[in-house]
Amino acid sequence: MHKISKIAVLTSGGDAPGMNPCIRAVVRTAIFNGLNVVGVRQGYKGLIENDMYDMETRSVSNILSLGGTILKTARCLPFRTDEGMETAYQNIKARGIDGLVVIGGDGTFTGALRFSKKYPDIAIIGIPGTIDNDLYGSTYTLGFDTATNTVIEAIDKIRDTADAHDRLFFIEVMGRDSGAIALRAGISCGAEAIMLPEKLTAIEDLIKNLKDGQSNKKSSSIVIVAEGDKNGGVYDIAKAVQKEVTNYDVKVTILGHLQRGGSPSSFDRVLGSRLGFAAVNALIAGETQKMVGLQANHIKLTSLEEALTEHEFKLEEDLLQMVDVLAI
Ligand code: F6P
Repeated sequence: MHKISKIAVLTSGGDAPGMNPCIRAVVRTAIFNGLNVVGVRQGYKGLIENDMYDMETRSVSNILSLGGTILKTARCLPFRTDEGMETAYQNIKARGIDGLVVIGGDGTFTGALRFSKKYPDIAIIGIPGTIDNDLYGSTYTLGFDTATNTVIEAIDKIRDTADAHDRLFFIEVMGRDSGAIALRAGISCGAEAIMLPEKLTAIEDLIKNLKDGQSNKKSSSIVIVAEGDKNGGVYDIAKAVQKEVTNYDVKVTILGHLQRGGSPSSFDRVLGSRLGFAAVNALIAGETQKMVGLQANHIKLTSLEEALTEHEFKLEEDLLQMVDVLAI
């Protein structure tokens, strides 16, 4: 087994609250174990452009409460090419780096796996960092909890004004192809309906649901639309409903990137710390091409391949069943 002596850490893809506590844990766990650590700026772009710096214990002081990522992040197309990967590899070798910790989502892991198969002498451990909560092998991804809490805070405020004006709001939330944020936020805010990519809601059913609510003395209604919902987007849905539910004043709010920012929750600070700690220990133990994740409150390793190929995310059945029951 090749002994690791110098590791690099990077964040890639969409930022997620909790990445900073995770970077801190990676850096300090590595230093504690006598390893050298290099921080890579802007994800894979920094590997290709050789934009890296040596990190010390104090490089990660006072970052636990910060959203975003001190290493910065990017979505890097050149890393998908053979030339881009070769340049990254040469830069890594020239610095004597033999282990890599990559924090990100499925795009990040796809890059990591390809790179690792091409250059197996560089050990790689992935950490699931995405607000979308859509990776197989970790019940929760880093940033999902904070993002959901941010969404809840925003929707609670919208509920106040919706109620004051007796309005119907359609609120679009992030998640790409995952309805995880929409479902949790919907349950937490008492949404009248939740439109999810995983479970198509027919527009006629939605209209009936909202009309029933009005007959049942509801004065305001909130419909959460996950961005990956397949009904044609939040504006089209709102238009179709407005035509039929004429006695409601209809408004649309797209929460957008505010969902990605903000100070990480307690859950994400602890999760980030646990995953960072575990990732470095996995590298020291000789692991590679694996993801560290949370399963039944224990840290477990899953192969990157499995995390990607079997990542069809299943929303909790009991939560799905509750939606209509609790919103009557
Ligand atoms: O993957 C995280 C995420 O925020 C998704 O929920 C969203 O679809 C996407 O990133 C937005 O990406 P960008 O910031 O590049 O527009």
